[in-house]
Amino acid sequence: MVKDKLEEIRQKALASIEEAKDQDSLNEVRVKVFGKKGEFTQVQKGMKDVAPEDRPKVGAMINEARAAIEEKMTEAREKMQQKALEERLKHETIDVTLPAKKNKIGHRHPNTIALDEVEKIFIGMGFDVVEGPEIEKDYYNFEALNIPANHPAKDEQDTFYINKDILLRTQTSPVQVRQMEAKKPPIRMIAPGRVFRADEVDATHSPSFHQIEGMVIDKGITFSDLKGTLEMFVHKLFGEDTKVKFRPHHFPFTEPSAEMDVSCFKCGGKGCRFCKGEGWIEILGCGMVHPKVLRMSGIDPDVYSGFAFGVGLERIALLKYEIDDMRLLYENDIRFLSQF
Ligand code: DAH
Repeated sequence: MVKDKLEEIRQKALASIEEAKDQDSLNEVRVKVFGKKGEFTQVQKGMKDVAPEDRPKVGAMINEARAAIEEKMTEAREKMQQKALEERLKHETIDVTLPAKKNKIGHRHPNTIALDEVEKIFIGMGFDVVEGPEIEKDYYNFEALNIPANHPAKDEQDTFYINKDILLRTQTSPVQVRQMEAKKPPIRMIAPGRVFRADEVDATHSPSFHQIEGMVIDKGITFSDLKGTLEMFVHKLFGEDTKVKFRPHHFPFTEPSAEMDVSCFKCGGKGCRFCKGEGWIEILGCGMVHPKVLRMSGIDPDVYSGFAFGVGLERIALLKYEIDDMRLLYENDIRFLSQF
């Protein structure tokens, strides 16, 4: 009697488990069979009516049926979990053959590219790259460069004064003096850096821009050394065919002084829009370091001589990359910058 009942419950339960589509329906089967009012539970409750001598046998039958149903349930649950996992993995697959996400990094500024190139050229000729302060003493910026108070050159280089003695440097030339004070000749240096002037912003002016100063001090340095060095410099920078021309000029800290022009690297000197029909482009100021400047910096002009030059970094960048408005260099627009 009990045996038949058990067999019936077991067959029904196994069939329902077989049909169960998900964990919920599996749970429903569990409740229906093993729940408080479940079919199986009813049979277990009926044990008290079983004759004592039959109880071990019936008990064994109940246990066996329970084990069989539970085993089937566990099996079904594990199958469902496995299937769910497979489904999930199908959606979460990572395609390792897809191209990687690009990391957008910035771009080197045309000034930086140009400066790196200039530095490389001078380092190749044995120059050191040095720096000086942007906030400078009036003494180094003017006085020690043979520009005394009330000198008209001070007017051309109006700047921002912190107080009477301290200002934002108008040129990198004060680094010449600082180097001569700090070192014994021979000195071969370039000094790139930021300079300041009280200028209105336009296509060719900015209150803050950059220069590269250069200086060589040793025994027996002549104007030929200046010419040879600067000619080599522009050959490397603008191409071997570049010609140079020196025009007499005046700077208080050099004697003699000159401005150097290079043949237009766009038209080769014939004259074009780029060189405004001149065939020549002015690129730097230079000269032999003034004996007074040497003496003030503690160097004996009877033993040593030297040359110096100063070039605008923006000017080189604008020329080299054919940019016609300096303001573009300061806007930091990545669409502009990434063209160089
Ligand atoms: N310091 C000058 C300027 O800003 C440029 C210059 C000219 C530098 C001649 C020099 C030099 O070293 O010899 O206009």
